[in-house]
Amino acid sequence: MSYGHQGLKDKGEVSRIEEVSSLRRDNFKVTVSLNKERPMSKSPLYDRYDIQRYDLHPNFSFSHLEDMIPKGTPYYIDSGNHYVERIVRALYYFKQCSLIGPSGTGKTHIVYLVAELCGLPVWEVNCGLQTSSYDLIGRFIGLGKENWVDGLLTQWLRKGGIMYLDEANMMKQDVATRLNPVLDTRGHLVLNEKDNEVIERHQYGYLILSMNPYSAEFAGTKPLNAAMRRRMAVWINFDYTSVGERISPHEVEMLRKRAKVTEDTAYKVIQAGAELRRQYKAGDLPYGPSLGDLINWATLIHDGNTANVAAEETIIALTSDNTEVQADVRRVVESVFNKPQGT
Ligand SMILES: Nc1ncnc2c1ncn2[C@@H]1O[C@H](COP(=O)(O)OP(=O)(O)O)[C@@H](O)[C@H]1O
Ligand SMILES: [Mg+2]
Repeated sequence: MSYGHQGLKDKGEVSRIEEVSSLRRDNFKVTVSLNKERPMSKSPLYDRYDIQRYDLHPNFSFSHLEDMIPKGTPYYIDSGNHYVERIVRALYYFKQCSLIGPSGTGKTHIVYLVAELCGLPVWEVNCGLQTSSYDLIGRFIGLGKENWVDGLLTQWLRKGGIMYLDEANMMKQDVATRLNPVLDTRGHLVLNEKDNEVIERHQYGYLILSMNPYSAEFAGTKPLNAAMRRRMAVWINFDYTSVGERISPHEVEMLRKRAKVTEDTAYKVIQAGAELRRQYKAGDLPYGPSLGDLINWATLIHDGNTANVAAEETIIALTSDNTEVQADVRRVVESVFNKPQGT
């Protein structure tokens, strides 16, 4: 059975009627025309990517959810990985994909960029052991059927767009298991908690999972359950743009511009960051700094602090509150910034 949009077209009319009624229920303005051709302005970045042939909501407008469509997502350094194209293609053919990589490698950033480029609303869940089926599916907030409130997953099923489950492997198994039927080709959810209402997955409902394979610092992390793993067709690997000895000139340039520091300072900050990331991936540190974290550090340097002082308040404190771990980070900073001349 094909997952592409071709096979879904004949369902279109019915889905549109359902959509209108669900809009009424939520008191959205029903003046929305659901048949408009791409009514909203496209992102200025749209033509930079080779995604024109993948329309993720043909003849369907999400303008009634415009607030949930990201705007002005910052530029993303791609280094030839073509993440945007690969994600959009996976969504087009399979309606879902998984992003795997350590935290801070830009997985969330790229989901927002894809959503902006494709004009899709984002429903985001930061998964953890505390994520409950109440959050995802829904709950009663009082006696009586009218007091049911849809969870985020249920709302996404009804309304469409991108459901982004960040750190999906952090969810408890019993909660993750509830997702499995939704991930099937004929995905739907049965609201057992309520009145066994069957909710079909919206024709333009897309799902993106992200996972961190190195989350040694989180006791709760476990491999994604096998049933969920089998249902994801495409897996895209993410890594830091600079790590260990490999320094990306694009990352240096971006940090230089965003933090307004000199070329030399930008290079050293990235160099220290790359070494911390290497140690994190080797299991020696509990966290590896993202580009955003390094920009924060460099911003305080730009403000007139020495690199060492600025590091105390940023990457050193950020990595851990354990003083021994902090001393390790401090040594990395010193080895890059306080090298004696000529060595
Ligand atoms: N390749 C990249 N290009 C631009 N910014 C990046 C890139 N990778 C990470 N960042 C920045 O680093 C920070 C962390 O990224 P995020 O998307 O939250 O990572 P993840 O979701 O993988 O943990 C954000 O400020 C993000 O904009
Ligand atoms: Mg994230």
